[in-house]
Amino acid sequence: MFSPKEIDKGSKKLTSAFNGKLFGEVADLGAGWGYLSKEALRLNDKITKVTLFESNYSAYLASKKNIDDERAKFRWASLYNIKNLKARFNHVICNPPFHSGRPKDMGLLRSFIFYSSRLITHQGSVWMVFVSGVYLENELRNYFDNIKILYKDNHYFVCQLLKPKIKR
Ligand SMILES: C[S@@+](CC[C@H](N)C(=O)[O-])C[C@H]1O[C@@H](n2cnc3c(N)ncnc32)[C@H](O)[C@@H]1O
Repeated sequence: MFSPKEIDKGSKKLTSAFNGKLFGEVADLGAGWGYLSKEALRLNDKITKVTLFESNYSAYLASKKNIDDERAKFRWASLYNIKNLKARFNHVICNPPFHSGRPKDMGLLRSFIFYSSRLITHQGSVWMVFVSGVYLENELRNYFDNIKILYKDNHYFVCQLLKPKIKR
């Protein structure tokens, strides 16, 4: 399970960025033990529903224990296997994985960016945090027309991604 003993510092930066900005339907991609969704629900009372997608079964079970809010729906699923992918979410929140086992897996990271661009409505937005140096900001332009960098330091950058490039 990702960061089981402490809150990831990048995820903390992300919650500061989306504080008070989320509403409607939200998807949490790679939700882990539920930190981002729990904070999203606490900080954004205009959220009507959060769907947590997570492929690690222990993390999925932990998230169910950690979040006691009827707006939360839990899906034990790999992003690759989500059927009926529909652009229906107002927001996606995500701290994307870039390891499968030990080696870096940039394909995994890119697929999270791609799927996030498919899951939001045309007016929707994606809120993501990246480890600096792992992923280049300008690569995000392959998937989104509008990229706002909300926070940046030597370790992380947080961005809001708007106007997905996918043709509907
Ligand atoms: C960097 S962690 C972030 C966890 C959590 N959102 C947080 O902020 O603490 C990425 C998560 O993505 C999950 N993950 C990896 N591959 C996945 C896939 N194909 N489908 C769904 N989740 C996946 C991992 O199990 C991990 O929990």
